[in-house]
Amino acid sequence: MLAPRIAAIIRAIRGAEFFKIVFLCGRSSIIHASKDPTDLTAIAFQFPELSHNLCNLRCCLGRIPPVMRLFENLYAYPWTGNDNNCNSYLFAGTLTGGRHVIIDPGHTVTPAYREPALDRLIRSIARDGLNSSDIGLVVLSHGHPDHCEAAIALRDNYGSLVALHSADEPAYRRMGGKVDLFLDEGELKLGPAGSTVFRIYHSPGHTPGHITVYWPERRVLIAGDCIFYRSTGRTDFPGGSARELAETIKKLADLEIEHLLCGHAYGNSGIISGEEEVRENFRTIGSFLF
Ligand SMILES: [Fe+2]
Repeated sequence: MLAPRIAAIIRAIRGAEFFKIVFLCGRSSIIHASKDPTDLTAIAFQFPELSHNLCNLRCCLGRIPPVMRLFENLYAYPWTGNDNNCNSYLFAGTLTGGRHVIIDPGHTVTPAYREPALDRLIRSIARDGLNSSDIGLVVLSHGHPDHCEAAIALRDNYGSLVALHSADEPAYRRMGGKVDLFLDEGELKLGPAGSTVFRIYHSPGHTPGHITVYWPERRVLIAGDCIFYRSTGRTDFPGGSARELAETIKKLADLEIEHLLCGHAYGNSGIISGEEEVRENFRTIGSFLF
């Protein structure tokens, strides 16, 4: 019989058109390409350790769009490369002087396949008629290199300020990064007369200094590596805590969210839209977390 947690995720993702299934066991990844969801059952039997941590199971769908303009001033740049890297989100013209805010610019160059991730992001931003040299602020959801490495180049090249929670600053500093603004739970008002208001939530669990960014005006939550489509962030990295992540997700589930923007394209593009779809995602996660 399948472990209950594996059975739960198979139920949750049944019907999806699988393109790539990625199991993360400890620090190693097992990638299995398949279009047949029933393969998942066979794989689950092969790797019984998965039953101990459902959160380590990842599923990726193909055909992820390279860019989405969610609102007039909010652009999503889902990562479409082969190596691991994060999705990036850009608020255009939010700062005084029309400068932009980017959340999680990702890797500069990906570590395994040497994909030029930052160059691709800059080209995508240019295709939208925006200039990366106008990025005035880089907000980092947390201090993992696949989210924050490129912030070093943006700061060096364009003078962008970098914002991060203090608990993740040591990890970022070890990469050579410098922080200009420490974020913590509370409001972040940007632009002329503070015209754009974000709510920052300290959201530990994946890392101790993980933050999520809520934009109440459009009910958007940028979730970093806390929540994905039908799954959650890993908690087996240094400073991770499954208990804290569960508390974080409980807290975030109370928000009114129309668009849940995830840090990775696990299971879908990483963008979950529609209030009911977002609630269903929290319910699915809750069924195996709580
Ligand atoms: Fe991460």
